[in-house]
Amino acid sequence: MRQPLHSEPPERNERGSFRGEVHTTPWSWYRDPAVLEREEEAIFGRSWQYVGVLGDHNVMPGSAGRVPVVAVRDDEGAERAFVNVCRHRGSVVVEEAGRRKALQCPYHAWTYGLDGSLRSAPRGEELGARSDLELVEIRLAAWGPFRFVNLDGKAPPLEEVIGEVPAMLAEGGIDVDGLAFHHRVDWEVPANWKIATENFLECYHCAVAHPGFSAVVETSPDSYRLESRPWHLSQFGQLKDPTGAPLPEGQFHLIWPNTGINVFPGRPNLSIGPILPLGPERTRRVLDYFFAPSEDEAWVAEFLEFDDQVGREDARLVESVQRGAGSGVLPEGVLLPESEQLVADFQYRVREALS
Ligand code: FES
Ligand SMILES: [Fe+2]
Repeated sequence: MRQPLHSEPPERNERGSFRGEVHTTPWSWYRDPAVLEREEEAIFGRSWQYVGVLGDHNVMPGSAGRVPVVAVRDDEGAERAFVNVCRHRGSVVVEEAGRRKALQCPYHAWTYGLDGSLRSAPRGEELGARSDLELVEIRLAAWGPFRFVNLDGKAPPLEEVIGEVPAMLAEGGIDVDGLAFHHRVDWEVPANWKIATENFLECYHCAVAHPGFSAVVETSPDSYRLESRPWHLSQFGQLKDPTGAPLPEGQFHLIWPNTGINVFPGRPNLSIGPILPLGPERTRRVLDYFFAPSEDEAWVAEFLEFDDQVGREDARLVESVQRGAGSGVLPEGVLLPESEQLVADFQYRVREALS
């Protein structure tokens, strides 16, 4: 089979688009369990993974790919993160966010301190002193209210990975520290995580698949901007009628490899969350929504209805690509060098990571 991309970074013109015809990564990668195993090691095991906010809660479970993790804040305000797997027989320790003084495994009630140390094990009093039975600590980093973890001690710092995103958001009128957490949505789509991610990275489908969104946001290639940075892929779309809108431009960022950030144009709003593989053909999506603290709930409800409509439209698209591309009948597809340059960029990075 022909190689979809060259082993060198694809050549770009001054508008950032790729030269020549660009082929997709092999479609077998959307269904092969062996590819997901390599991705877990080479991509999810080495990158910053969004977990959530430690606001009213001091314990927040999450996932780094398929690895359960938990972020914790102790009484002194110190924050840590751990692999969320019990050292006894391997149960997930924390399933729900909450306010806790300790982390107790639901299986046999081994109890860990907020520093990860094993405090007590029923009928196994002598085990409490063993440092080799502590929860395994991993890196935790904060950006505003958002907490990320990384299983790789050698990965570049979060600050480098989020790169220009904070400045881009600030320029667009979003102060992440000034927003209030509103709610979380958590759902699944029957598609490979890369199909969901690639769908996020282009608005070529917007005019066809998102009539409501395209009615209010400029999605023509002349005004919809795509920007590629070392660790994030960013898109910008303007309101067709920006009169009186505090946020005339929307922004959609993918922080490598799987954190999506959405800011729709209009009034201050932001949603952020991971695109998590559950299996080769199943993906979990989590989004935390933030609005201005005093935002009108009627407006929020209207906004969420709009957002949900776009989400339902996208879910149908990715599910369809899984059935088509994932059927194995054809080897690969082609990408438009300009409108799908971020998809090509993402696929190049996946290929590099797995090579
Ligand atoms: S598996 Fe956690 S206490 Fe037994
Ligand atoms: Fe979409």
